[in-house]
Amino acid sequence: MTPDPLPSVAERAARVYAEVAAARFHQPTSAASAIGWAPGRINLIGEHTDYSEGFVLPAAIDRLVALAGRAEDEPFASVYSAHHLAWAHFPLDGSADDAGSDDTQPWARYVRATWRELALAGAAPPVRGFSAAIVGDVPLGGGLSSSAALEVATAMFARALGGDALEPMAVARLCQRAEQAGASVRVGIMDQAASCLGKPQHALLLDCRSLEYDYIAADLPGLAWAVFDTRVPHTLAASEYNVRRAQCEAAVARLAPTLEAETPGRSVAALRDVTLADLAAHGDLLDATLLRRARHVATEDERTLRASRALRQGDAATLGHLLDASHRSLRDDFAVSCPELDTAVEIARATPGTLGARMMGGGFGGSILALVRRDALDQLAARLTAEYPLRAGRDGEFFECALDGKAGVRKALNSA
Ligand code: GLA
Repeated sequence: MTPDPLPSVAERAARVYAEVAAARFHQPTSAASAIGWAPGRINLIGEHTDYSEGFVLPAAIDRLVALAGRAEDEPFASVYSAHHLAWAHFPLDGSADDAGSDDTQPWARYVRATWRELALAGAAPPVRGFSAAIVGDVPLGGGLSSSAALEVATAMFARALGGDALEPMAVARLCQRAEQAGASVRVGIMDQAASCLGKPQHALLLDCRSLEYDYIAADLPGLAWAVFDTRVPHTLAASEYNVRRAQCEAAVARLAPTLEAETPGRSVAALRDVTLADLAAHGDLLDATLLRRARHVATEDERTLRASRALRQGDAATLGHLLDASHRSLRDDFAVSCPELDTAVEIARATPGTLGARMMGGGFGGSILALVRRDALDQLAARLTAEYPLRAGRDGEFFECALDGKAGVRKALNSA
């Protein structure tokens, strides 16, 4: 089998590993024997729908996280982060408590939690310990799923060390559990699924209930997907995310008995099962906040399916309108935007050549996504870079995303 081409981030991880491991372990040669990598993602549409068992439409991007390293004889993991210029160490023998020595280094928690999930699934490699270097170019905290990329890269690295080759969706679920444990947020499956299943030039239409998926070509002629990172740290993100999820569950608990009694045989297990017509007929069962939350999920699911059809038909204008409507719904009904995200979206919408724009990811900071004519990209970059700091009081970062991210592994680098 031809090996996956080695992306430059993966090459860098191998180089960084050789340098830092030689220094740390006082060994003359410290070549990595295994490497795994995984991409970040954008989400075209379908926001805050995954944990309500709805639909999402993410795409893996050309920004990656990679782990390069090798097996060790001691039951410890030693992991170096090139971004943080720091090592973290944690035991792998299961004896230490989980809130162990990596407490002050959140990035290491994701590696540790993923390894633990692999071990629980019986899919960890047959090694006592390992050392590895992490290198990545997915912006941290930018809403592009750097943590999901780190988890999936850890799982790929484990596979390169001889771990089981699980189905991609099994890896995604395991990494979702690692994220939930590592960040104490009850995230859905979208980010990890996008990172595991990303296919170049395609978006992934995922049914978060059945976990069935379909690929849709997402490189539209003459158009580009642009991201602007507001550089607002998502300080509220974890607590408010859990609140939103609880609100969705509360709305279902209040609606289900009535809806199920009304139509024998009908099952209402998640907001996925609640339509706008249900809300029109029985909205009085919910308070104003829960009604708005439920309306967001019902309309966003509909928008996601319509966007998938528009994408298949190459109907960029409709897609753009759906992006705009998604932002309004996330801002007004789901209340997960913030002034800086709104400002960036407004500037993008006021720039000729932008077909649609919306906040992306969990919210309360992070990035916006814009669908823009390729010949208007420079103008959009210039306006966001000039106007956003004046209005938001901080700098942001603009970049175009190529949809060509793909997870991969390489063993025995020297022989590949
Ligand atoms: C975060 C979570 C995802 C998803 C989005 C919102 O990125 O990790 O599971 O819920 O927020 O769509």
